[in-house]
Amino acid sequence: MFRTDPETPDLFITPVDEVFIRNHLGPLPRLDRATWSLTVEGLVERPLRLDFPDIQGLPQTRLTAVHECFGNPLRPDVPTRAVTNLEWAGVPLAAVLELAGPRPEARHVWLEGADTGDFAGESGLSYLKDLPLDQASAEVVLAHTMNGEPLRPDHGYPLRAVAPLMFGTNSVKWLSRIVLAADRPDHLFTTRLYTRVPPGGREAVPVREKDVSSKLLTPGDGSSVPAGSCALAGYAWSSTEVTSVEIAVDDADWQPAALDRRGPDPAWQRFRLRYDLAPGPHRIRCRATDSAGRVQPLTGDRNAVHEIRVVAGAGSPPAGRA
Ligand code: MTE
Repeated sequence: MFRTDPETPDLFITPVDEVFIRNHLGPLPRLDRATWSLTVEGLVERPLRLDFPDIQGLPQTRLTAVHECFGNPLRPDVPTRAVTNLEWAGVPLAAVLELAGPRPEARHVWLEGADTGDFAGESGLSYLKDLPLDQASAEVVLAHTMNGEPLRPDHGYPLRAVAPLMFGTNSVKWLSRIVLAADRPDHLFTTRLYTRVPPGGREAVPVREKDVSSKLLTPGDGSSVPAGSCALAGYAWSSTEVTSVEIAVDDADWQPAALDRRGPDPAWQRFRLRYDLAPGPHRIRCRATDSAGRVQPLTGDRNAVHEIRVVAGAGSPPAGRA
């Protein structure tokens, strides 16, 4: 089910065991589904307290989406390339908001997790994020399932937000409170960290939509491969569809790779190229462009082109010889 290409066997869906875990606060909540609840409050006609069976009783949805960590908020330009592609199941945020009835003056949705603690010199924090109401209502899923299994405690059990077009920082785990408000909250994780100045811009904006990016997975970085025809492959993703991926080996020109279409879900897209590798060490780079015309920068940003190093040997010994 997970493998797409026997020749370059990296997985389309990332196994749960391989998903990165990113937490800011602690000790981490260990919640019990039987006693957990989610409140919906603020500028709503009907404040709510939903338990897990209430969530199960709402219309369910599923989607496959890239789950990518933005990186260390104190070092926003450094690539971390912590990225996975996951199948989520849960309830559209819109279904919960419809029950509560947002008031006309509501503009922002605040999402708060049950974890509390200290971060970057501030104490007594909760993990709080906010999104524009219209966008959150159209995109966010409240997920209870990752790759067909209940969320594990580290990934936000029993319920987390998933903002599928955005960096993982917006996907609040251990979701316990939703507030509708006229304004954005002033908070470490909303207005002071996880902000950045967009290219050509002057003011910092919240870290939300994913950048265009790509990662070479086959062959593995630092590996040895037989010289000759070699399959180069990996995944590309963005908040919109990726329209092309190019690969450059050493100082040769960029060459277009074959690229899968994205489909209806914001999943990552596979790219591949066969390349004749001469014996010796090689530097291989990949560069994606998306339908908004954004191109991965060569250097200097968190989504700078990905580069791997491989050594091509003299070739595999023919079958039957030691
Ligand atoms: N939600 C809570 N409540 N607390 C957190 O520290 N970390 C965020 C986000 N949601 C975080 C959170 C960040 S920065 C990322 S990248 C993702 O969760 C990571 O999700 P994961 O640990 O399930 O991979």
